Amino acid sequence: MEKIQSVAVLTSGGDSPGMNACIRAVTRTAIFNGMKVFGVYRGYEGLVNGELKEFTTEMVSNTIQRGGTILKTARCQSFMTPEGRQKAYENLQKFNIQTLIVIGGNGSLSGAYQLAREYDMPVIGIPGTIDNDITATDNTIGFDTAMQTVVENVDRLRDTCESHARCNVVEVMGRGAGDIALNTAIACGAVAAAIPEVDFDEDACIERIVRLRRGGKRNFIVIVSEGVSGHSEELAKKINDYTKDLAEKENNDRLWVETKFCRLAHTVRGGSPTLGDRLLATRMGVRAVDELLAGNSDLVICEKAGKIVTVPIAYSQVLDRMYKGTLKDGMLDKYSKEEIEQMKLLIEEKKNDFRTTYAMMEQISG
Ligand code: F6P
Repeated sequence: MEKIQSVAVLTSGGDSPGMNACIRAVTRTAIFNGMKVFGVYRGYEGLVNGELKEFTTEMVSNTIQRGGTILKTARCQSFMTPEGRQKAYENLQKFNIQTLIVIGGNGSLSGAYQLAREYDMPVIGIPGTIDNDITATDNTIGFDTAMQTVVENVDRLRDTCESHARCNVVEVMGRGAGDIALNTAIACGAVAAAIPEVDFDEDACIERIVRLRRGGKRNFIVIVSEGVSGHSEELAKKINDYTKDLAEKENNDRLWVETKFCRLAHTVRGGSPTLGDRLLATRMGVRAVDELLAGNSDLVICEKAGKIVTVPIAYSQVLDRMYKGTLKDGMLDKYSKEEIEQMKLLIEEKKNDFRTTYAMMEQISG
């Protein structure tokens, strides 16, 4: 088998802290092994438009600690069309690029898979998203940093809640996944969390706040994942109004828990990656190049129980769809009964983990 000589790397979709550490690892591992490396700017958009540059080892120096992505990113429409993908493939050919590494979320990995299928292009996907919503992997690049950023911000809010005897309802990113919200709720000592995976009991949340306030507690944090509609700004208003009415009814000012709302939004996507994300990104980047050198492709690099492993991109896509309930007819045809059972088991385990962790969070929330 002929040795792979060249690789292109791109970051796509929402940026996530640690992407630079991953680009660095890919670049340096490839060069170390005698390959040419090309950085593609602005994700698939840049691939369609031919925005590629050969990378040297120096070009990724002083990047491991930087947030964002030095390759920039974009949410690309033209790559969704056959014409766009044709142009992308032609650009790869023009630069004599044999293989492609895509760092990004679900949509980005599915783009890589399409290129692999339509043009027989060897690709590797690396999960880079703060959302941690790629079912095949325990962790995605950026998730740890995003949680750390939430914790730092919420700790600040909590200080001022304590001074004023207030509540802060904090909305955090995560698209359809509650991973960031649930973990940070535990780490911040929140009184409640609303996540898409578990039904939220709004009345119980308000009752808990009232009970704790009667007992003298002064600071209240509620974390809401952006994927749960109707429970962010609205919830803040409800807590505020309910406790205000109660204070009036009982003629006891102290029962009013004035409640503010805070949306952390994109602050959670920026910043210097944590040690965990730098390590994960580096291990995944190195492994991606190693797989290509070994003649393997069309894989997603995952972390499972602390180990870096690989799964076929096709499998990762199907698993995600199964998890989200968006499977289409025929998608499971190529899998055996045992494999399908295995996937179902994995998904059930993940859902159970959410329920158990949520129950634990409630138990210790006061
Ligand atoms: O997928 C990452 C993410 O930050 C989600 O948590 C969020 O819903 C979305 O991207 C925001 O997208 P944009 O940066 O395009 O506003």
